[in-house]
Amino acid sequence: MDIKEILTITENHVRQKLEGEGSGHDWWHIHRVRNTALKLGKEEQADLFIVELTALLHDIADHKFHGGDEEIGPATARNWLKSLEVEESIINHVFEIIRDVSFKGAEVETPMKTIEGKVVQDADRLDALGAIGIARAFAYGGYKGRELHNPNIPPENHDSFEEYKKSTGPTLNHFYEKLFLLKDRMNTDSGRKLAEERHQFMEEFVNRFLSEWGGNVEL
Ligand code: ADP
Ligand code: NI
Repeated sequence: MDIKEILTITENHVRQKLEGEGSGHDWWHIHRVRNTALKLGKEEQADLFIVELTALLHDIADHKFHGGDEEIGPATARNWLKSLEVEESIINHVFEIIRDVSFKGAEVETPMKTIEGKVVQDADRLDALGAIGIARAFAYGGYKGRELHNPNIPPENHDSFEEYKKSTGPTLNHFYEKLFLLKDRMNTDSGRKLAEERHQFMEEFVNRFLSEWGGNVEL
């Protein structure tokens, strides 16, 4: 199978698996991450086959929907690529990126070893920011039955992935626990620039959200 066929068959597989998903991890998230990753990957002169393949497969099986099992995502991607008889070194590279890509808590470092990994991580994180990021956070919170906001529950700085995964706080806390931290953790210059714009928009959103929260507006 050539590179083009591998990408097409993988795209169709992922699309069919994630189409219509309601928590913000749907096919269109993959579509955006793939496009952003390719854009950043061109600028960074990354291997675009690895970038595209990993972007397509990075949420194929998320620990959040499999009882916290962190191995399931990379393992599912590996099995899929094995079934297509993709070269072992490529499979290993894709596997490592998917294993390391996720945010794991405010105090937990998640360094990426290769430029392809850096690019895919930036693209995935950019989709957690800005208008789309806000929409995805509240979609995920609703899916999990979380409150929008609760002024009596302060945000936490999780210092392990276990603590981060266990957290059941209101969705607004997620902005302080993850989303506002991302702009300073971008790997690439162009990723950082996009993150800064999206960060500003989210700050404006949260300020307005909090000013409307009490309901005592002047009419
Ligand atoms: P990553 O891309 O780092 O793996 P996730 O898969 O954890 O990120 O998150 C994907 C989306 O789900 C993001 O938009 C993120 O903000 C949202 N999300 C994850 N955890 C929460 C949460 N506890 N509350 C609200 N949104 C969340
Ligand atoms: Ni993702």
